[in-house]
Amino acid sequence: MPVPVITIDGPSGTGKGTIAELLSDRLGWRCLDSGALYRVLGLAAERRGVSLDDADAVAEVAADLPVDFVSGRVLLDGEDVSEAIRTEQAGMAASRVAVHPPVRDALLQRQRAMACPPGLVADGRDMGTVVFPLAPLKIFLDASAEVRADRRYKQLKGKGLDANLPDLVEDIRARDARDRGRSVAPLCAADDAVIVDSTVMSIEAVLDRVLKEVRRVFPELVL
Ligand code: DC
Repeated sequence: MPVPVITIDGPSGTGKGTIAELLSDRLGWRCLDSGALYRVLGLAAERRGVSLDDADAVAEVAADLPVDFVSGRVLLDGEDVSEAIRTEQAGMAASRVAVHPPVRDALLQRQRAMACPPGLVADGRDMGTVVFPLAPLKIFLDASAEVRADRRYKQLKGKGLDANLPDLVEDIRARDARDRGRSVAPLCAADDAVIVDSTVMSIEAVLDRVLKEVRRVFPELVL
């Protein structure tokens, strides 16, 4: 029996990470935050003085990236980098290393290895199209760039951090353009994905919508 996988893809700031976590908790399944892998890789490459534009050098870093996910924390070589990888700069670095085909290849098996019983919820950009193309349930979560930037703005302000809304809108647009425009595994919905536009939906409403799909595809699960 193949391990059941639910993929949640979409651009940054749609709340897919939150939905993936809530859903995996609810199901008692593992959760793969693939964006965190690219973020850690960007950080590791920068720390080693590797140019983010050097595909082969970054792929070498990716091949034996000492990353661990322990109790919701992200460790790079044993150091807790959970906060460090969440900055806008780390997001942009992740997006830059993610354009290189050899880098994506180097991370592919690591992501697929996360699928173990009883199941996996995987969030990212290419979970449904490339990493788990046979997943029985694929969600594509979208929202307008303005709403995503506004959510990010409130999140940063809530943490007492400095934030500028127009800059955030611009950052989000730039990252979207790179993620959608790259030649390999571009951000796009799989043909068989269920598209959910969360522009005017709360997280609770999105979760309800996703749970409806989960019940449809996995009627045997008790939720
Ligand atoms: O989901 P996130 O914002 O943490 O992702 C950071 C960047 O990593 C994103 O801009 C593009 C890249 N990424 C990717 O190319 N493929 C994935 N499956 C996940 C993230």
